[in-house]
Amino acid sequence: MAYQPNPARYEAMEYRRCGRSGLQLPAVSVGLWQNFGEKDAQANCRAILRTAFDAGVTHFDLANNYGPPPGAAEEMFGRLLRTDFQAYRDELIISTKAGYGMWPGPYGDGGSRKYLMASLDQSLRRMGLDYVDIYYHHRPDSDTPVEESMGALDALVRQGKALYVGLSSYSPAETRRAVAVLRELGTPCLIHQPKYSMLVRDPEQGLLDVLAEEGVGCIPFSPLAQGLLTDKYLQGIPDDSRVARNLGNGALEENQLTPANIAKAQKLNALAQERGQTMAQLALAWVLKDPRITSVIIGASKPQQVTDAVGSLANYQFSAAELARIEEILQG
Ligand SMILES: NC(=O)c1ccc[n+]([C@@H]2O[C@H](COP(=O)([O-])OP(=O)(O)OC[C@H]3O[C@@H](n4cnc5c(N)ncnc54)[C@H](OP(=O)(O)O)[C@@H]3O)[C@@H](O)[C@H]2O)c1
Repeated sequence: MAYQPNPARYEAMEYRRCGRSGLQLPAVSVGLWQNFGEKDAQANCRAILRTAFDAGVTHFDLANNYGPPPGAAEEMFGRLLRTDFQAYRDELIISTKAGYGMWPGPYGDGGSRKYLMASLDQSLRRMGLDYVDIYYHHRPDSDTPVEESMGALDALVRQGKALYVGLSSYSPAETRRAVAVLRELGTPCLIHQPKYSMLVRDPEQGLLDVLAEEGVGCIPFSPLAQGLLTDKYLQGIPDDSRVARNLGNGALEENQLTPANIAKAQKLNALAQERGQTMAQLALAWVLKDPRITSVIIGASKPQQVTDAVGSLANYQFSAAELARIEEILQG
């Protein structure tokens, strides 16, 4: 049966302005790094995307290399766009990226103009799109002049293949430089995508301040530390979990389920229960409490995880005592 989105989808979601731009993003966005590969069941992928859109999630985050194999997530997304979301293209913010190894030879990795421009053409073909809303340089490349990488992003906007551009995993100094180059070119940097969660605090060491000063939005990835900041691993390793699937390529591994991390998770879970939240909701609320954060990008292997994440918006206020208790737990 043809998909009929929830007519009330815009009522429950909160939208936040992305830096000093005209674009608003949902406070919860969904990423397709995992669970949208060649071997993942299309019916489940469809259910995740429909649940998200029905809850007001308008932003879906991809990259050239998401799968496995690389490219498969964009292909899966393209198929579901055609069957379910074609009529809603103007209600969607779709992002993709290039920066990690994608194809053999010297032009399929890094930050050259050659790579960034060819890769976006490939991504557009895989997704069946004329343009993406946001195109990112996925990671800094110290072997390529930043003027070249940013020049490629600017050119792609002028060609109409991307509406906005962003940076991912650039340090505060690299961000400052890239933002200045983009501004000079006339294509402002919309957004930065850093890894940030209760367990990964690096953006607090300067990046968040740079983004606020420059008027650039911030959309943290892995805000649930890939599942560590949920109740998932409190009683062992479930068969259907990311750890049990042993995915490699940066996915959560068993050796990260240390006794110290599990002890933190147990204590955070107790606090979440006191607040009337799930632990995933606590972890997302903790990131979203900062007004410099535009959105969080979660991953999901099941539709209910999206619903759970959106529930975090019901309460992202913390008392000073709760914040102090969280710091104490995190310092172990
Ligand atoms: N820019 C970059 O370099 C970069 C890098 C990584 C990710 N990203 C982006 O960020 C997105 C999210 O990354 P991520 O998947 O690592 O994020 P995450 O939200 O920290 O982790 C997602 C995983 O946590 C588990 N989970 C989610 N909600 C849950 C819930 N309510 N209860 C229990 N478990 C729950 C699921 O794992 P199970 O599979 O175990 O159920 C899910 O696959 C990616 O898809 C991608 O778009 C960007």
